[in-house]
Amino acid sequence: MNADPACSDSSAMSLPADADGMLALAARSMFDSFARSAMGMMVVDRAHRVVWISEGYKRFLPALGREEHEFVGRRVEEVVPNSLMAQVIDSGQAILVDLLTNQAGTFLVSRLPLRGADGEVIGALGLVLLDHPESTMQPLITKFSRLQRELDAARSQLAAQRRPKYTIASFVGASEQAMEAKRRARRAAQTDATVLLQGETGTGKELLAHGIHAASARAARPFIAVNIAAVPDTLLEAEFFGVAPGAYTGADRKGREGKFKVADGGTLFLDEIGDMPLALQSKLLRVLQEQEVEPLGSNAVQRIDVRIIAATSRDLQAMVAAGSFRADLFYRLNVLPIRLPALRERLADLEPLVEALADDIARRSGLAHKNLSADALDHLAAQPWPGNVRELRNALEQAALMTDDLVLTAAHFGGAAAPQAAPLAPGSPGAANVMIAETGVPAEPLPDACFKPLPQAVAELEARSIREALELTRGNKLAASRLLGISRATLYEKLAATAQPARAIAK
Ligand SMILES: Nc1ncnc2c1ncn2[C@@H]1O[C@H](COP(=O)(O)OP(=O)(O)OP(=O)(O)O)[C@@H](O)[C@H]1O
Ligand SMILES: [Mg+2]
Repeated sequence: MNADPACSDSSAMSLPADADGMLALAARSMFDSFARSAMGMMVVDRAHRVVWISEGYKRFLPALGREEHEFVGRRVEEVVPNSLMAQVIDSGQAILVDLLTNQAGTFLVSRLPLRGADGEVIGALGLVLLDHPESTMQPLITKFSRLQRELDAARSQLAAQRRPKYTIASFVGASEQAMEAKRRARRAAQTDATVLLQGETGTGKELLAHGIHAASARAARPFIAVNIAAVPDTLLEAEFFGVAPGAYTGADRKGREGKFKVADGGTLFLDEIGDMPLALQSKLLRVLQEQEVEPLGSNAVQRIDVRIIAATSRDLQAMVAAGSFRADLFYRLNVLPIRLPALRERLADLEPLVEALADDIARRSGLAHKNLSADALDHLAAQPWPGNVRELRNALEQAALMTDDLVLTAAHFGGAAAPQAAPLAPGSPGAANVMIAETGVPAEPLPDACFKPLPQAVAELEARSIREALELTRGNKLAASRLLGISRATLYEKLAATAQPARAIAK
């Protein structure tokens, strides 16, 4: 037995006696089959002179304007315009796939250097693989360009979604309270510290979060928002931290990036942070402290660089006192607190807000811009606005849709008297924290004062129920359709039926 591994290796590697002859035959046979199967083939020497062309190549000669005897023996760059054979010979580097275009057409070509026994370049081999690749390869080229277009569109859509929608200046208001919120937001934008936005619903927390990101050094990186209240508790962890490949079977088996990772380098907006389940609060705290995430089903940690902006309309301090929000997480988030004033605390901003919102509504709806009379502004200023700027916007939008008048008066907002809404059934969506907007609902005449035909009464009742459902659900059409006990499609139909006449007249 041979104990020397080197010996046994070399005996395994050594070639059979006829190997050289075999390789020479292989080279010869490969050359022949390429010469037969390629559309054309040529050999050029190191002085760039054409030495030989295959039978197939001869078909291109008429288009190149040459007879065979004036082609072979000439320098390739003289007889084949745009040829890169000379470059291959001079550099010794192959060009495996290329498109060559000249007066003979467009060709898919391949060019390989040829080397002698000492490794020196002795010439080059040129292959014409396909002529008119633009027609032969059309399905492939079409498919490729369609996929490329789709990819480009998806990329720019994604970039547009992640691009900040608002600047701090989009937060309309010059009252002391609004200016203080904007001053703090500008200061926050200059740092990477965690921001906590607190304010009632509809006060502009999300708007200001976008604004802070847009004014920060991270503006060109992603802004990713997670609405904690909208994600089922069981899915939140995967949503935040991601899932390692193979952790689950099914759709997630390839793994999924968590929002922390997606927001890497940018800003993660944790909306409705007060709705975070306690169990996850401690995990979030750890991530914020360590700046590392561990995807589900993985034991490798990923470092992340994310600025956090958290927002809530709930009283986090009271939640801490009640034990439903971790005190340590609260302090971690409350580094730069910004309180957003309720609309009723800054009525000085009502007029500029109405102006800006009416402008935006006109632009988006295609309807004419509507101004407000002084009594309309007085009427609006007297309302409690539990839904704040969002509610103001909805009231303006509804009033604008309901009339063709170019000036909206108090009467368009239901005048001073507004009907009280029926109390919500406990447990119905929105019952916890939303009140009916008093402003958007026109006062109903007393039944005996004006008797209406049944179809009209039914239509009005239906329109009012839809309006109220949309207010209650803050414009969420799926939730509104559930409240109304109709399908979402039916709700859309009814909305289209009521909105169209107004638009048609406005045009
Ligand atoms: N100061 C403001 N200037 C202009 N528009 C505003 C302002 N504040 C809020 N809005 C508008 O009001 C609507 C609600 O704002 P946003 O979604 O930012 O409120 P939010 O505080 O996040 O509310 P919620 O707590 O219900 O999520 C949006 O259409 C927003 O553009
Ligand atoms: Mg919000």
